[in-house]
Amino acid sequence: MGFSPVSRRRRYNRAMRILLLACLLPLLAACADGGAPASAGAATGLPAAATPGGNAVPAKLGLCASCHGVDGRSRTRGTPHLTGQDEAYLASSLQAYREGRRGPGPMTAVAGTLSDDDVVELARHYATQGGGFGP
Ligand code: HEC
Repeated sequence: MGFSPVSRRRRYNRAMRILLLACLLPLLAACADGGAPASAGAATGLPAAATPGGNAVPAKLGLCASCHGVDGRSRTRGTPHLTGQDEAYLASSLQAYREGRRGPGPMTAVAGTLSDDDVVELARHYATQGGGFGP
């Protein structure tokens, strides 16, 4: 009779499982949120209100950040820095990709999804991130 060590361990295991689940649930909920980004703010983890340049975060920034970074400082070889480049140059480059006058390359497909407003917003965003080229 009395306590067998086995059942005590089993009860302990069950308690730990419940504890673990309780800890994981909020994490899972956070992941589920991130899976369906409603805005660039959610996609990039930035507050939706403003970037260091002081502008609203462009809706499509999440499309670009994986290659060019949120701030336009590329972390990948072969991908140009966008930060601090001239706004008109960035916008005309995006238009050229969109219309197939530049490329083909990875930008052709991405730029094809951009509206005129997206081009303006993204060019302004990257032009106003402040220089700071380099790692
Ligand atoms: C899959 C990676 C990838 C993604 C995603 C991507 N780019 Fe690019 N981007 C590149 C590469 C590589 C180049 C340079 C090669 C080329 O000209 O095709 C480039 C070039 C550019 C240029 C020209 C820069 C210059 O100095 O001439 C601009 C502007 C630009 N990208 C903006 C964007 C914007 C805005 C987005 C999001 C809508 C975006 N890119 C998404 C990889 C990417």
